Amino acid sequence: MKYGYFDDQAREYVIARPDTPLPWINYLGCEDYFGLISNTAGGYSFFRDARLRRITRYRYNNVPFDVGGRYIYIRDNTLTPGPSPIGRGRGEGFWSPSWQPTQCSLEDYTCRHGLGYTTIGSTYAGIRAETRYFVPLGQNLEIWQLTITNQRLTPADLSIFSSIEFCLWDGLDDQTNFQRNFSIGQVEIEDEVIYHKSEYRERRNHFAYFACSEPLAGYDTQRDTFLGPYRGWDRPAAVERGQSFNSEAHGWAVMGSHHVKIVLAAGESREIRFVLGYHENPQEDKFAPPNSQTINKHTVKPIIAKYLNKSNTDAAFAGLRKYWDSLLSAYQVQSPDEHTNRMVNIWNAYQCMATFNMSRSASFYESGIGRGLGFRDSNQDLLGFVQMVPERARQRMLELAATMLPSGGAYHQYQPLTKRGNNDVGSNFNDDPHWMIIAVSAYIKETGDWDVLNERVPYDNAPGSETSLYEHLERAIQYTLDRLGPHGLPLIGRADWNDCLNLNCFSDTPGQSFQTTTNKEGNVAESVFIAGLFVHACREMAKVATRYQRLGDAGQRNQIANRFTLLADQMTQTIYAHGWDGEWFVRAYDDFGHKVGSKDCEEGQIFIEPQGYCVIAGIGLENGYAQKALDSVNKHLATRHGILLQQPAFSQYYLYLGEISSYPPGYKENASIFCHNNPWVMAAETIVGNGDRALDYYLRINPSAREEISDLHRTEPYVYSQMIAGRDAPTHGEAKNSWLTGTAAWNYVAITQYILGIRPTFDGLMVAPVIPLRWKGFKATRKLQGVTYHIEVIRQGPGNTVSLSIDGQPIAGNVVPRPTGGEKSVRLTAVLC
Ligand code: GLC
Ligand code: GLC
Repeated sequence: MKYGYFDDQAREYVIARPDTPLPWINYLGCEDYFGLISNTAGGYSFFRDARLRRITRYRYNNVPFDVGGRYIYIRDNTLTPGPSPIGRGRGEGFWSPSWQPTQCSLEDYTCRHGLGYTTIGSTYAGIRAETRYFVPLGQNLEIWQLTITNQRLTPADLSIFSSIEFCLWDGLDDQTNFQRNFSIGQVEIEDEVIYHKSEYRERRNHFAYFACSEPLAGYDTQRDTFLGPYRGWDRPAAVERGQSFNSEAHGWAVMGSHHVKIVLAAGESREIRFVLGYHENPQEDKFAPPNSQTINKHTVKPIIAKYLNKSNTDAAFAGLRKYWDSLLSAYQVQSPDEHTNRMVNIWNAYQCMATFNMSRSASFYESGIGRGLGFRDSNQDLLGFVQMVPERARQRMLELAATMLPSGGAYHQYQPLTKRGNNDVGSNFNDDPHWMIIAVSAYIKETGDWDVLNERVPYDNAPGSETSLYEHLERAIQYTLDRLGPHGLPLIGRADWNDCLNLNCFSDTPGQSFQTTTNKEGNVAESVFIAGLFVHACREMAKVATRYQRLGDAGQRNQIANRFTLLADQMTQTIYAHGWDGEWFVRAYDDFGHKVGSKDCEEGQIFIEPQGYCVIAGIGLENGYAQKALDSVNKHLATRHGILLQQPAFSQYYLYLGEISSYPPGYKENASIFCHNNPWVMAAETIVGNGDRALDYYLRINPSAREEISDLHRTEPYVYSQMIAGRDAPTHGEAKNSWLTGTAAWNYVAITQYILGIRPTFDGLMVAPVIPLRWKGFKATRKLQGVTYHIEVIRQGPGNTVSLSIDGQPIAGNVVPRPTGGEKSVRLTAVLC
């Protein structure tokens, strides 16, 4: 069953009924000011950091799931004020045009989630109300553009109430420290603008404001007055009686609500704008007059005035649309498959930008108060957004490199505001440093910016420790060479990509973190996955070294490259000797030196990670292991909802395996479909030439392709979720943790670079599609380093052999070098036979 549809022309997902299985959300903002907004207007806003600068309040794990947000109430003033009859919200009194929180049965309802904006519209009792929410580029504010139309045959006398609840800035403290927080709330109300200034009197130089374009009939700033005792957001006392209380918050719960009265003639339409924003004053200029306690509003007032104005607001919206046109133009495809097209052209790219902006901080499943930026997560996310924002990718990459340690290892996480490694979680996730190599190499392929390797970057942010970025990468390789186990495979440390495979943890104490508890020496447990990743990283380093001029003349560069190649070859042999189980790659060795992910195990006999990643690294191509491993995946792990992480699921907790066995079977790392690593198998299938299987796997987890089963899938049909419940779970096929997941970047890479096969390389643009037999071809445009490539792929035979031509002139190989004559546009034809 579907709850809406894709409007690909408008680049929107249109939700046609409010009661989606879970809140279906979107993001507002793309620079410093951000908001989350659900299809019923739930959610919150923050400036830069969802924990430390939270602007509006939101209660996670609430009932209903999603309550608290950017709510508007409409009330019909012709009704007698006072407590309404039981029919509240059913025509007698008032309603919310976004359905929540009053939940009236709206006559029609649509929520259009677009790129950086959301429009929620409905009709009720002959009144049409539509609100567009967005954040203008370059501004620290959001605009709610509300258009009200009277579709009745008679005039309508209406009251409009806006509402938001302010957060006392620190999102965690706000939800826990009530003995203090109930006494610190402060506001100012001036020229009908509500200013939230809690803690401004002391060490903060920032405040929030909430303004309205119309003259006010009243306002409220104290939540409990607005709502009334024992009431929720579904029936605020102010709305019910039809008049604000003009409350001024002193402590307790600071909110913002405007009350506007309008009379609309039959057929008349009116637009009302609300502006919610964040503003900073210079420390020495906080107050005006200087010796008062009144906020200095000189610099904020012009901003408020500007965005209360309709033409400025419309222009800002047009600017936002343009911005997305330009970001998405980096890669556009027209293939025979609509799910591929809309995910590549719109939604998957958009989700990759969300992971760039948010990392794993704020979604409806990440509370914004938890972990900082993950080292491995951020490096992998970069693979999905580097083509859209290369300069910002560069900056992110250098920040990450600066949290590496002199050993070549890395802090597992870092804090976005301080840019420092996070000591609570520490280091020793032994896959981490290699993701830096994968990210840097992707960045150079995209941009041709070899200079980035010369950048002087510190270790652990310590001044004086700077070396070139290139040396950081070399040390990452060395990190593994210094940490090899009994079989010559890399030691796993606290965990590798699979955060829950904690082979040195042995925790029997409730509440201990599996990631930070280490009860074993760690000199035995090894990871075949890291071995595969290491081989991939070494192969990339070899390619970098041959081309990186700073390393010397061609002979010297080759010598360095050969060393990396040798390391990759040796590790490949080690994997053949100790990491092969007969039909698939072994996953790891535990602290007792026993295999994990082997037919000899009782549970967890085969894991997905080494099958996909070893093949990406080129392991097993020359001896048939690659094909065998992928056939085993198909046989043991593939389900119609995607590929399981491992089988058989762990039916009990194993002290020596850690968190992976803590989950009930079928969930999370214990045998769910962990969508992040499915694309490794898709990519691997293209490497062995199987386009049919690759696209088949792609479509099993593609959210658009799952739209028809939205009542089972439950999360948004326009973005990937971290996991889909595996076949051992009672809810096989149900997705969880949408939006902020490495799934976004890797699926983008698998479809755009491997299946469609359009991939930047160090020497130019590779075009090597591995598409299903039934596809006759496709067209794509790819912008790379200022050149637009118009590509047409034509299938003439059943194979994957490519013949390329530029403007009809055949060229050798499958890589198109950058045009030397300054051409900005290249027409390419790729014939497959
Ligand atoms: C989560 C983590 C990621 C990890 C994955 C598998 O998505 O953010 O770092 O690789 O789980 O455990
Ligand atoms: C939990 C999650 C996993 C995540 C890890 C680290 O174990 O299940 O997905 O990567 O925490 O935060």
